[in-house]
Amino acid sequence: MIDVHCHILYRVDDASQRSTESLDMLKVAAADGVKVIAATSHIKPPMYENTKADLQHALENVQALIEANHLDIEVILGAENFLNHKSMHLLDEDGFVTYGDYGKYMLVEFAWTKNAMDKPTSYLQRIIDKGFIPVVAHPERYQWVHEDYELVRLWRKMGCLMQVNRTSVLQLDKMQKANEFATRLLEDDLVDCIATDSHAPYAPRLPKLSDVYVYISKHYGEEKAKSYLIDVPQQIISK
Ligand SMILES: [Fe+2]
Repeated sequence: MIDVHCHILYRVDDASQRSTESLDMLKVAAADGVKVIAATSHIKPPMYENTKADLQHALENVQALIEANHLDIEVILGAENFLNHKSMHLLDEDGFVTYGDYGKYMLVEFAWTKNAMDKPTSYLQRIIDKGFIPVVAHPERYQWVHEDYELVRLWRKMGCLMQVNRTSVLQLDKMQKANEFATRLLEDDLVDCIATDSHAPYAPRLPKLSDVYVYISKHYGEEKAKSYLIDVPQQIISK
């Protein structure tokens, strides 16, 4: 399995602050059968002003941990790129980071509550016009998407992929609405992949995927589980 949304790096955002915590996360993931993690730390100015070089440096620290501890897992470059009226200049300044820095798929997120100044669909279109494919992080967690369900169909029609969180699928998100919305997206076949969005080695947002693989297999068939957790993620992290 491949985790395309995980805050595995330390001291770059609101996730792990210590190498030991990132190491614990790596151990949980490796023991669970996760083979590759995309390190998708926040790029969210002014809170997290990470550059590609910052994330690359933090990635190398985590890769050194893997080697020193002989773990059977790989971590690649990525970012969770925050889109709003204040951050979109980064798109033109090469300030956002794509998966593997391959210039292909880009994980993006929005604010929980939408500012009137923000135009999410036009931001996605600008990213597509630049030649990237947006992967929308956890659409089930945005209140304004709950109120406008057709946005998800529209974004998929534009070519975006929808990444739903493991915790929402397993009904573990503290926001009940996110759990309900994830089920609705699964029932309507509007999900492209599932990832952990893990920030720590402890529950509920663990860096594990085997439990959600079993859940999807049971409720929607093994083919779907393979698609959400192996095949589409593989495509996202490919050159
Ligand atoms: Fe995240």
